[in-house]
Amino acid sequence: GGRIPLIAGNWKMNLDHLQSIAFVQKLAWNLKDASHSYSDVEVAIFPPFTDLRSVQTLISADKLELAYGGQDLSAADSGAYTGEISGQFLAKLDCAYVIIGHSERRTMHNETDEVVAAKVAAALKHGLVPVLCVGETAEDLEKFGPSAVPVAQLKAALVGVPSTANIVVAYEPVWAIGSGQAATPEQAENVCAALRTVLAETLSDEAAAATRILYGGSVKSGNIAGFMREPNVDGALVGGASLDLDEFSAIVRFKK
Ligand code: G3H
Repeated sequence: GGRIPLIAGNWKMNLDHLQSIAFVQKLAWNLKDASHSYSDVEVAIFPPFTDLRSVQTLISADKLELAYGGQDLSAADSGAYTGEISGQFLAKLDCAYVIIGHSERRTMHNETDEVVAAKVAAALKHGLVPVLCVGETAEDLEKFGPSAVPVAQLKAALVGVPSTANIVVAYEPVWAIGSGQAATPEQAENVCAALRTVLAETLSDEAAAATRILYGGSVKSGNIAGFMREPNVDGALVGGASLDLDEFSAIVRFKK
């Protein structure tokens, strides 16, 4: 109870510089529209690294309260890591969050549970809130059932995490990402409840009660309310629909 819902927009590698400027200007206009309050929801956006600063500048000029995050970070602090972005860079860039262990990074960039755990530690070290993604593939689902793989991924990522750590968990079934085939609210609730039990067992009851667990995978304006009605779903990690102005604005203003 008492968890403030979080709607997170992961732009992935979409919107070039001019497109993102045009997009956030319209988004700010849309979200500021006083006739549609979203005051009980926190909204965070995750643009590509190269547009974080310009997006923040435009949004702050509009006096709109949004949170920001990177889509990944390096496990290292600094040094000879060509092409990498460290947690301290993101923290200094006013990022509150960083996505870690997204399935696209696990599969396309070979991020193991160990790499994910190291990145979670790096994020916490630099004062960033990890948005830790877990989720099973369709094959996993068939072989191991709905929660075994996400539970194992969460346990592995929490190794060494202090019991009071501020984290966000995102349950993203891989088969639901970008497929248009979202999980049902009941499926999402069952796995999110299992993940909350892991938080209680691994961290503490307090952390389990305070941690927001998001659902992600083909979330749209038409299905957000169903997820938000579930007691263990505290928000959404939105991909495709976060790039659609009307869709994202409507998701932010979900009514249970
Ligand atoms: O990070 C976002 C997820 O991968 C969900 O993407 O909303 O396009 O299915 P999607």
